[in-house]
Amino acid sequence: MSNKKGLQDAYSLVTPEDSINLYRTWASTYDSDFAIQNDYRSPFEIAKYFDKYSNNNDTPILDVGAGTGLVGERLKFSSKEIDALDISPEMLEIARLKNCYSKIIEADVTKRLSINDNHYGAIVSAGTFTHGHVGPSAFDELLRIAQPGGLFVFTIHNKLYKKAGFDKKFIEIQKNITEPKLHEILVYGNNPDENYGNDKVIIAIFRKK
Ligand SMILES: C[S@@+](CC[C@H](N)C(=O)[O-])C[C@H]1O[C@@H](n2cnc3c(N)ncnc32)[C@H](O)[C@@H]1O
Repeated sequence: MSNKKGLQDAYSLVTPEDSINLYRTWASTYDSDFAIQNDYRSPFEIAKYFDKYSNNNDTPILDVGAGTGLVGERLKFSSKEIDALDISPEMLEIARLKNCYSKIIEADVTKRLSINDNHYGAIVSAGTFTHGHVGPSAFDELLRIAQPGGLFVFTIHNKLYKKAGFDKKFIEIQKNITEPKLHEILVYGNNPDENYGNDKVIIAIFRKK
């Protein structure tokens, strides 16, 4: 197998420790070999939908699974405070160098977070609710740390929406959130990968009640 990391490796992950190991070796080439080369669209789309649905109160923002900071780079023009949360210290180190985050938080979003209740005015995420990464159960903790009225804008891989139970999770938490708006988008503008090049994600948007 070549040393070049890619979607096959990412989608084969099972545990949070697998994520730490993969992204340790992928961090330095993620932006150039993966994001730029394939015209990875999700961070732009998250910023676009955040702009469309957000208001002045939606701050501070938490970027979940921030990785190398591609979402933060697009959102920094909103002039809001943005924090980055990720399980991979190596990915976060690249994000830190981009100077778009106020705080860098190394944490596993599937566990209890050391963040106060009702802290964040918005929670965004790209590429993290996907194969082998984070499932719908993380929403309990994310709802706890979001302010009442807090805005959520995040991608869910479209093949996992039903398979991993995101649809059921939204029903389970429906008393605590506004009706989710769902938009399906292509992840890549130019990815020749025959298995994943035409992948789609759902952009889900709702507010905590
Ligand atoms: C495909 S990358 C997406 C990074 C960035 N948001 C982007 O769109 O380029 C997925 C990120 O999720 C992070 N991740 C995976 N499992 C996680 C977990 N349990 N808690 C926090 N971050 C996690 C990985 O370390 C990685 O940086």
